Amino acid sequence: MDGNGRWAKERGKLRVFGHENGVEAVRKTVENCAKLKIDFLTLYAFSTENWKRPKLEVQTLMRLLVSSLQKELKTLHKNNIRLNAIGTIDYLPPKAAQELREVIENTKENTGLTLTLALSYGSREELKTAIKAISAKVKNNLISEDDIDEKLINTHLYTHDLPDVDLLIRTSGEHRISNFLLWQIAYAELYFIDVFWPDFREQHLVDAIINYQNRERRFGKTSEQLS
Ligand code: FPP
Repeated sequence: MDGNGRWAKERGKLRVFGHENGVEAVRKTVENCAKLKIDFLTLYAFSTENWKRPKLEVQTLMRLLVSSLQKELKTLHKNNIRLNAIGTIDYLPPKAAQELREVIENTKENTGLTLTLALSYGSREELKTAIKAISAKVKNNLISEDDIDEKLINTHLYTHDLPDVDLLIRTSGEHRISNFLLWQIAYAELYFIDVFWPDFREQHLVDAIINYQNRERRFGKTSEQLS
C-alpha cells in the first residue's frame, strides 16, 4: 500500500493526511475482496523498517490501526472476514496489540476472507526467527538436519497457516518488494500500478485480477507440459 505520503504532498498536506485517506482505501479494498470471494488478502501496513519514521507518523499509523479495528469489527463480521496478523506484534504499542488480539479472537470463527495485516513485519526478520527456532530444535535433538525441508520451514514462518502468494500488487509506481514475504512470493505474479494507495479503487483491483488471470503460471514447467 505505497504512496500515501506522496498523495498528501501533492495536495500540500502532511504525510499523515495521506495515511488517513489510505484507511478508506483499505476499507474499500477489503470489502471488495470479500465481495469477489477472494480467500486471502495480506496487507503490508507497517514494516520493521517503518519504526525509523518520524515519531508523529508512527503514532498516527498506530492510532489509525486502533481506530480502524474498533470501527470495523461489525463490518468484518457482516462480511464473514477472519482477521489475522503477521509480524512482531509484541513490539506494537500495548493498546494496538491488545485491540488487534481481541479482533483476531473475536473473528476467528468467520469462514470467508482471511485478512492478514502485516504489522511490524519484515521478511528477513521472519526468516531469521524461523532459522533460530529450527536450529534450536536440531540442537536439542527434537528434529534431525534431514528433517529440514520446505514444508518444515513453512511451519516456522508467521504465515504457516496461509498459502503461498498468488498475486502481489504494489501501488505508487515503485518496482520493489521491500522485505515483504520473500519466501512466500517465490512464484507470485507481480503487478505494479502507478496509482497512489489512497486512490486505489475497485476497478484497479479488478484490472489486476484480470491481468493475473491472463498470465500463464508455469512454475518452472513448459507451456506444453501445462496443456
Ligand atoms: C506506505 O506509503 C504506506 C504505509 C507505510 C502505511 C500503510 C498504512 C495505511 C494505508 C493506513 C493504516 C492501515 C490500516 C490497516 C488501518 P508511504 O508512506 O511510504 O508513502 P510514500 O512512499 O509516498 O512516502
